[in-house]
Amino acid sequence: MSILKIARMGHPVLRQKAALVGDPRVPDIARLIADMRDTLDDAGGIGLAANQVYAPFRVVIFEVPDERLGDGEDDGEADGEADGEGGASVPRTVLINPVIEPLSDDVAVGWEGCLSVPGMRGAVPRFTRIRYSGLTENGEPISREASGFHARVVQHECDHLDGILYPMRMTDMSTLHFVSEVRHNPGLREPLEDESEDESEDHGEGEEALDEDAA
Ligand code: NI
Repeated sequence: MSILKIARMGHPVLRQKAALVGDPRVPDIARLIADMRDTLDDAGGIGLAANQVYAPFRVVIFEVPDERLGDGEDDGEADGEADGEGGASVPRTVLINPVIEPLSDDVAVGWEGCLSVPGMRGAVPRFTRIRYSGLTENGEPISREASGFHARVVQHECDHLDGILYPMRMTDMSTLHFVSEVRHNPGLREPLEDESEDESEDHGEGEEALDEDAA
């Protein structure tokens, strides 16, 4: 096993468009995936893209752990669906050559952090419902629909493969902050307003939060 160094914002590899993987089963890619797992375990995040570890290939890994499902569900009403804002936990998933298709125009704002932007957090708008597809590490097709936090994580990770870091998606830079300063500003602990078109939903996905060490 190997724990790899994680590139930080400013390194050119993070702005590079990652290359398609021809065959996920070749030893170099299998080793990269194993090392990404070890690196993510060590860093304690929930997602990682290959170019964050200086390997500019279209490979991401992520998971949605049970403990994150409560995020954004104060009262459990959400939209009443099991696959609503809270969503379901997602086991660690390897996604190669991913393609994302938004399933609606709805966008919600939620807190995000990134292992390549350590110690910081900002409010980022993301599509609330997507379909993503790609290949597993065995080269088999995978396709899932995702909403809420799951959809946010996948969009964040796949952005990395196109050289996009979450601050580049932010529409309100005043929300960018060091997590260590949150104690001075209780407002930064608050859930974010849902920017989706349905203003009546006040427990929308804006309340989800991708940790500062997330991805
Ligand atoms: Ni990230």
